[in-house]
Amino acid sequence: MVKQTVKMDCLYQCLLAFVIVGVGTAMDLDVTPRITIPYSELVDVNRFINTAVSNVTMLLEDDAGILYVGARGAIFSLNARNITDGTNKTLNWEASPDKQKACEIKGRNNKTECFNHIRFLQRFNETHLYVCGTFAFSPLCGHIDIKTFHLTSISEGKEKCPFDPSLGYTGVLVDGKMYTATEYEFQSTADIRLAQEQRLLKTEDSHNLWLVDAKFVGSALIQESVNSLVGDDDKIYFFFTEGVKEKYTEHEKPRVSRVARVCKGDVGGQRILQKKWTSFLKARIICSIPEFVFYFDILTSTFVLDRGSWQTSVFYGTFTSQWKNVEASAICRYSLADIQSVFEGPYMEYMEDIHKWTKYEGELPSPRPGLCITNELRMKGQNTSKDLPDKVLGFQKLHPLMYDEVKPIEDRPLLLKKNALYTRIAVDQVMALDGQEYDVMFIGTDDGYIHKAVVMSPKVHIIEEVQLFRSPEPVEKLVISKKQKSLYIGSLSGVVQIPLSNCSRYITCYDCILARDPYCGWNGDACIEISSVENRTLMVQDIVKGSTGCSNSTVRVPIIQKVKTVQQGADIMLFCDIDSNLASTKWQVNNTELNIMQQNYKVGTDGLLILNSLLSHTGNYSCYKEENGVQSLVAVYAVSILMELPTDEVEKPSSTPLPSPTNPESWHVVKAEVVYIAAIIILGGVCVVLMSVLFYVACLQNKTGKYHLNTPSGVELQTVSGSCGSRKAESNQEYADGFLQIIPGEAVSGPSNRDLNSPVRQLPPPPPVPPPLPTEFTNGITTLPSMLKKMNGNTYMLLRQNDEASSPLYHSFTEELSKILEKRKHTQLVEKPDESSV
Ligand SMILES: *[C@@H]1O[C@H](CO)[C@@H](O)[C@H](O)[C@H]1NC(C)=O
Ligand SMILES: *[C@@H]1O[C@H](CO)[C@@H](O)[C@H](O)[C@H]1NC(C)=O
Ligand SMILES: *[C@@H]1O[C@H](CO)[C@@H](O)[C@H](O)[C@H]1NC(C)=O
Ligand SMILES: *[C@@H]1O[C@H](CO)[C@@H](O)[C@H](O)[C@H]1NC(C)=O
Ligand SMILES: *[C@@H]1O[C@H](CO)[C@@H](O)[C@H](O)[C@H]1NC(C)=O
Ligand SMILES: *[C@@H]1O[C@H](CO)[C@@H](O)[C@H](O)[C@H]1NC(C)=O
Repeated sequence: MVKQTVKMDCLYQCLLAFVIVGVGTAMDLDVTPRITIPYSELVDVNRFINTAVSNVTMLLEDDAGILYVGARGAIFSLNARNITDGTNKTLNWEASPDKQKACEIKGRNNKTECFNHIRFLQRFNETHLYVCGTFAFSPLCGHIDIKTFHLTSISEGKEKCPFDPSLGYTGVLVDGKMYTATEYEFQSTADIRLAQEQRLLKTEDSHNLWLVDAKFVGSALIQESVNSLVGDDDKIYFFFTEGVKEKYTEHEKPRVSRVARVCKGDVGGQRILQKKWTSFLKARIICSIPEFVFYFDILTSTFVLDRGSWQTSVFYGTFTSQWKNVEASAICRYSLADIQSVFEGPYMEYMEDIHKWTKYEGELPSPRPGLCITNELRMKGQNTSKDLPDKVLGFQKLHPLMYDEVKPIEDRPLLLKKNALYTRIAVDQVMALDGQEYDVMFIGTDDGYIHKAVVMSPKVHIIEEVQLFRSPEPVEKLVISKKQKSLYIGSLSGVVQIPLSNCSRYITCYDCILARDPYCGWNGDACIEISSVENRTLMVQDIVKGSTGCSNSTVRVPIIQKVKTVQQGADIMLFCDIDSNLASTKWQVNNTELNIMQQNYKVGTDGLLILNSLLSHTGNYSCYKEENGVQSLVAVYAVSILMELPTDEVEKPSSTPLPSPTNPESWHVVKAEVVYIAAIIILGGVCVVLMSVLFYVACLQNKTGKYHLNTPSGVELQTVSGSCGSRKAESNQEYADGFLQIIPGEAVSGPSNRDLNSPVRQLPPPPPVPPPLPTEFTNGITTLPSMLKKMNGNTYMLLRQNDEASSPLYHSFTEELSKILEKRKHTQLVEKPDESSV
């Protein structure tokens, strides 16, 4: 059959680790979200929280502006504009007490399972919706009159809806007929069904050839009859994962992802395949990194992007690996045309004696098995599938699997992400200022994040990651409303509504351009939604390069110099807070580039740490950020180190504004001094609170961060915030146990109490001169901060080593990184993976 995947978990992990660390030239193997929006910074969020909500189904009627939500024992009708505006209607549909009792007697959990979980909710006709619920392990379906929002009829649902609320389930309603796929009865095997009044169509399961322990993920109706030259039928596509029927070793149960399809007009066979599909065909879908034979085999969700006609439709899929110890996700997309050509290609045949699928090389009966009824067949008098010859149906019964595999567009994943499990995807098409349509993907994770990413074939840029919930919970459903410009997220705790874009987050022209958000453009004064503007001729946007269009922009910020005065020997933290995870920082002292190989300097992603300061460290320090070829000044510090400090002064930040920078690319908002000082006070307070919380949390659990970094040498960066209880006095800035420490992010303004144990005097500001743009990133330690941030996702980290600057751990770590960087420079993709790993 299909190429066998790697056999040993360890090899997989090593391979992926190698792939992700060692290569980067051909494809970004771990795309980093540009900005991270934590829960606390979410704006314009509406949360529909209801105890009945769990395992939601959602149906958006964009024209009517209604979002229907199926939950536990209830269906809600919400105002799509604002789901929490209080105008929602509720239809209660609880499981009856006797069914609940029966469910309990069957040994089911009366706290989770013995309810009426709504699993299906779709439009039936102009006046009614169709709904199915598990009804305490005794499924029922019904019609809902939209006007009165009441159930008008209730009928048996056991051929349409699973009994178990947790089972994978998908279905579509076409012309009043329901095509569904799930495991229907208790402990039965999975099946694809068409449930009608008289007749039930099913998959043929006698030999386990059609479906092997299938878990269904998605389905879609594709109207292939529209403008079809051969009079083809509409088809329903199903996406799922299933077990492999081939025998490998004893313990292995590999799974693969599949697409299957049936014809809408299929009525089953006359003698053979009676009440069975005569048009069921399936094929493997591949999502892999071709150079490494690494397969993302577990499909977790699909999205069909209708681009106006079925011929141009594409399917998006989110995948993870089936090996539990590889936490990584991939997104692949497929064209319908590619899927169709696989279904028109050669068949596989199962060889019972050797337990293997092999290519079928023999003769094919006519008409071709698995086809829908077309004009040509109708002309021969074969009006329905019942008229098909026995030998065609006999062949179809034994050959449901296609030989070719469905490969992604451009033969590789669109996006790879380490340390994330993607659970859901929805895609919007956005017309950008350049006249191009861009696909914008909204991807949900199993820990409650949304990644928003723009596809610029073949690359993908993750614009942002948004934390939706205070405590992690999986994203289960995603629905986009173009009309409301909203994204609705269904999860265990309820439905969340967020705007598709929040352009006003970007304050300067470069902010707006660097974001590369197709929804946003710069109008000369602000970053705004381009759809809200009639005349766009003066707007700028740069999706492809993310760097041009701002040369005339006049929004500038005078950078405010901060003054730090400390006694020699103290440690000094100079913050340089940059919001973008893709930017790197660069430090200058006395207008020359900082020699960060010097032992006392430690550069982290948040700032510069001067350890054990000497008198000679006095000077003017400036921090620049560099992103996508755009450089700007972020912070300026006047640092003076004194032999001894005067005792009667208190720390006081300078508020002397610098003259507007000469660098045309320096940009930031003008802030009033008052605001600035107030911000310092507030942020200082916040910082202290944050520190206490961090230490408290660190005591509760060893790590607080979401991301880990494993370097090949086994050196591990942990996002620990310090040790519990054993931390020495703050004035000494000593950490008892840390070779790596996190110092929580702080705002631009912040000389914090932690950094100074001494008073401050105001010093005159130096005129900042921007350093030349680096023509090339060297592989030395200079790129360490950006490397770290990149590899580590987006944890704001600051490296802090032991007081012994020559700590062997520190050295092995930096050496390791240098080696990796060196490798990245010189090695191309390895052509073939190690034979032993395949
Ligand atoms: C939605 O409505 C609620 C209640 O009226 C209101 O508090 C909230 O601000 C509204 N949300 C938005 C984004 O307008
Ligand atoms: C569920 O079952 C347990 C044990 O049979 C019983 O004590 C409990 O009251 C039941 N809960 C409900 C909500 O029926
Ligand atoms: C829609 O379907 C319902 C239920 O079968 C039926 O009562 C109603 O008359 C139908 N409405 C229209 C407009 O066909
Ligand atoms: C097929 O349909 C055509 C036209 O509707 C009809 O004339 C013919 O008898 C049908 N053939 C069979 C085998 O039912
Ligand atoms: C910038 O200004 C120059 C001269 O005023 C003008 O020619 C140019 O078109 C402007 N560029 C943009 C991107 O607005
Ligand atoms: C910066 O310049 C001052 C005097 O102008 C000097 O004392 C100091 O050592 C310099 N700092 C560094 C780090 O070179």
